[in-house]
Amino acid sequence: MASGDSFYVTTPIFYVNDVPHIGHAYTEVAADVLARWHRQAGDDTWLLTGTDEHGQKILRTATANGVTPKEWADRLVESAWKPLLETVDIANDDFIRTTDARHETGVAAFIAQLHNDGHIYEGEYEGYYCVGCEEYKQLDDLMETESGDYAGRLLCKIHALPVEVLKEKNYFFRMSDFQQQLLDLYASQPDFVQPESVRNEIIQFVKQGLEDLSISRSTFDWGVQVPWDPSHVIYVWFDALLNYVTAVGYGDPERRDEFRRRWPATHIVGKDIARFHAVIWPAMLMAAGLPVPHRVFGHGWLLVGGEKMSKSKLTGIAPQQITDVFGSDAFRYYFLRAIPFGNDGSFSWEDLSARYQAELANGFGNLASRVVAMVTRYFDGSVPAPGEYLDADLAIQRTVATAASTADAAIERLAIHEAIAAVWTIVDELNGYLTEQAPWVLAKDPTTAARLGTVLYTASEGLRALAVLLSPVLPKATATLWSALGAESALGDLAAQPLRAAGEWGQLPSGSRVSALAGLFPRIEESGPAAAGAA
Ligand code: ME8
Ligand code: MG
Repeated sequence: MASGDSFYVTTPIFYVNDVPHIGHAYTEVAADVLARWHRQAGDDTWLLTGTDEHGQKILRTATANGVTPKEWADRLVESAWKPLLETVDIANDDFIRTTDARHETGVAAFIAQLHNDGHIYEGEYEGYYCVGCEEYKQLDDLMETESGDYAGRLLCKIHALPVEVLKEKNYFFRMSDFQQQLLDLYASQPDFVQPESVRNEIIQFVKQGLEDLSISRSTFDWGVQVPWDPSHVIYVWFDALLNYVTAVGYGDPERRDEFRRRWPATHIVGKDIARFHAVIWPAMLMAAGLPVPHRVFGHGWLLVGGEKMSKSKLTGIAPQQITDVFGSDAFRYYFLRAIPFGNDGSFSWEDLSARYQAELANGFGNLASRVVAMVTRYFDGSVPAPGEYLDADLAIQRTVATAASTADAAIERLAIHEAIAAVWTIVDELNGYLTEQAPWVLAKDPTTAARLGTVLYTASEGLRALAVLLSPVLPKATATLWSALGAESALGDLAAQPLRAAGEWGQLPSGSRVSALAGLFPRIEESGPAAAGAA
């Protein structure tokens, strides 16, 4: 995309029935890396996240804890969901709660319009309902077990908990009207739903035939009231999906321009909720005459013991267990590098620890401190001027240019792991380059002083490019490196460096003053929680 274009990216809004685990942090980090990348590239970027607070699931949890649902939501938002953003260093532009007045007003306006335009009718429904998913289930989505507490009962495949039989008189959205339009959308915009596996599943699901959607409830009142019938509240998913438009001004006449400027968005979600985002949500928007999302990406699951990590199965790992030991940068790097974005991935402390040591501490951190230390020792802390470039130096320049453009193209395709791998070629090539050029040998011989200058300039300038290209993934370490390189005083804020020009050679001025750089990724004590976790 061209610099300056609108890039609006969202995470799901998470249920506040419980505290976050690393699955939620994973989605946050992925969306944040995309947002930081686009922001650094000069795009008109907006990152939205937030919380989903209505519905039966939250109501039941609050009741079980003896508080009102609003009290419960307030407590969890402040004690757990907002702090999560700091734990993994998310630079979000907004945080929406479905109990915000701005959201509730927009939801009421939206449903009223659909009602006026004939997209809603009153009907009756009986089916299996999973409160964990807040969704009516088809038999395909259910399983039976022969043993355990739930022997002989129908269980939700995602939650492995029994579904309930519900029979209700409700309002329905004529979603079936949009079946063909949805199929046309998937066909004409092949990247609308990603990755391919999720896309195929969605197309198959829609081809089987769409039913109308029950969008109100009258057996409890924790939700947004149906404007023309106060004895009903709006179905929690219908309410929640609208957060993506209400947050950027839908329904507020004074924010029309803002809405037009931001919408549509790129939605980053887990594949568990891809259907809501790629079927129900675009159908709702079509009914309202609004543009459909730009893209929906359903990423894979973090698995523990081969199963989806979840709150209900007690397999959740708190993000802080990891960041307390390894730091937020390592968390961000690990999950986005180790798991091809779109695939499932098994978390293991051993793998995290091994990658931390090999790639972050030895690969990148060590490279940075060695180069800064050599500039300090051999050139009195002043980045030398390059002399004549030889083939080996030119090869580094090509690596940097290729890495920068490959990574940007990968981000455009939401292939975050490929972008990081592309940038990492600079780390690997520079390490090999230093081994071959052996500046410590050149330093011993006065006749190779000019060559020493070229080699250390090349290495320092390579680090300059790395700091810019890795800042979306490793915001803390790159900020430290940026000032240690003397780039802060020579070139200004790291955040102001245009990312799409990062591959252009020769930006770090000779004469920049480097300063001491302690290890960017310190040694981890063997006895920490990581070791305990591995046990
Ligand atoms: O579904 N691996 O909220 P939720 C990877 N409120 N990601 C995971 C994960 C795992 N094991 N577990 C959870 C809801 N996630 C609705 C969304 S949006 C309009 C409403 C992440 O709290 C992943 O992003 O159940 C998944 O889609 C989301 O958390 C579900 O969060
Ligand atoms: Mg869930």
